[in-house]
Amino acid sequence: MLVLASSLIAGTMIGAAGCSDIQEEDIFVEQNAALGDRLPGTSTNDTNFAAFKANFAATEELEDGLGPIFNAEGCAVCHDAGAIGGASATRIERRYGRFVNGVFDPLGNRGGSLRQLFTVGPFTGLNGQACNPPLEVEPAEATVHNVGRVTTPLFGLGLVDSMPDSFFTGMAASEPSATRGIANIVATVLPNDRDAGQSIGGMRVGRFGWKAGVPNLLQFAADAYLNEMGISTQSCFKGVSVTAFATESAPNGIPQPAGCDDLAPPAPAGVPAGTDDAVGSCAGGITLIQKDIDNFKRFMTNLAPPPRDLSNSGAIARGTPLYDSIGCANCHTRRVFTTPSPAPNGVPSGTNFQPFSDFLVHDMGALGDMIGNAGDSVAVTRRMRTAPLWGVRFRPILLHDGRCGDVTCAIRAHDGQGASARDAFNGLTAAQQSDVVNFVRSM
Ligand code: HEC
Ligand code: HEC
Repeated sequence: MLVLASSLIAGTMIGAAGCSDIQEEDIFVEQNAALGDRLPGTSTNDTNFAAFKANFAATEELEDGLGPIFNAEGCAVCHDAGAIGGASATRIERRYGRFVNGVFDPLGNRGGSLRQLFTVGPFTGLNGQACNPPLEVEPAEATVHNVGRVTTPLFGLGLVDSMPDSFFTGMAASEPSATRGIANIVATVLPNDRDAGQSIGGMRVGRFGWKAGVPNLLQFAADAYLNEMGISTQSCFKGVSVTAFATESAPNGIPQPAGCDDLAPPAPAGVPAGTDDAVGSCAGGITLIQKDIDNFKRFMTNLAPPPRDLSNSGAIARGTPLYDSIGCANCHTRRVFTTPSPAPNGVPSGTNFQPFSDFLVHDMGALGDMIGNAGDSVAVTRRMRTAPLWGVRFRPILLHDGRCGDVTCAIRAHDGQGASARDAFNGLTAAQQSDVVNFVRSM
């Protein structure tokens, strides 16, 4: 593979002007693991990685804390396309909300903005009582309806998690003003315990999810365990009990009676009642992350980026300059990222990778999903994270709501800051369009 790569793209410089002297063949070596493989060069061995993966692939039941409402029984029920950790061909989540005087209201008191799609249904509770958590429905007040959120792939995201904030803010500053993205800076709720630079409440560039709303993979794991599966957790970070993910979802805002959320054993003393998996007291300043979410984080951190496919060398050679000239690279940058030394989350330092995204949010006009946090303006709800294009050829459905099955359709749906690139693409000849699409499909 290495020989093939260097003979194809020998000596071609890539990346934004002035930012690197790394050659395509170097990236290819490092982005050459098979889909779903362990990231080469980490301290985690195959046995440990297999154990983390098994935890991620496990499905949960009422006795484990699943419910009362949920979207699926395990992470890999959704993240499975191509390999464990992938996107999903079918699982699309649903969100809702409304605008009041031009300000977004996620209808949090009515269970929003995420609408869980399933309930555990009738069962006999821990105290022998009859339980029947209702299915969540979209409340009548919602004016933003049934917005789709496609499952995104997790390959290579440990590399992204290792990058310092300054990398992303620097990238924003270097973008042309018409298409310049915004670094979505958010408060950290659950810091990555491996990264000495993170703290509870510390501000970090959000980089995960369609809206770049989440600052690190560990926090995403705790959030997904609760909001996708209904499994609530508590952890200790430097002596502080993190209970942000310890409260069960309440269908349309109605908490279920004690013992009726699921059949997980009672929580230990000192953690909120009903917490499914808790580490307990944080006395002595300890840091102790709940085991499942820690394992999910380790699986994701050690997941290799998707391999490139450089076989269509003619289309790549013709499509690359077109991709740049019509403006795709302004957001889906060809810049090569290099992990810092030392990498704070334990991935190998000095690793080059090319995710084809700036991980910034852009105003996408009519393509924006109009979902946000409480208090967001209409313009803020139109912001979407530049979708990383690495591995896009393994993706069954595209765009945040899955409306497209191919790259051309996705390009044509761009609007707002993406409108000029879309129009320039539409102005190419059919042969040129096909070269751009085939270049994208080589990522
Ligand atoms: C019901 C399907 C479903 C399940 C189950 C699920 N996910 Fe996801 N996952 C999604 C969707 C949809 C998104 C995009 C969410 C968004 O941006 O709002 C996503 C996004 C993510 C991301 C962000 C990736 C990126 O592109 O930045 C991470 C990390 C993640 N999931 C981890 C997990 C973990 C860990 C679990 C298990 C605890 C899990 N997911 C369970 C559907 C699912
Ligand atoms: C202004 C920034 C910007 C520009 C310019 C831009 N994109 Fe995008 N692109 C995005 C954003 C943001 C998304 C996610 C949109 C969504 O679904 O909400 C996206 C999504 C995509 C997707 C779907 C990926 C997925 O994971 O579903 C493809 C394919 C894509 N872009 C290709 C291109 C190509 C090719 C060009 C050049 C013609 C281009 N884009 C120009 C910002 C941009």
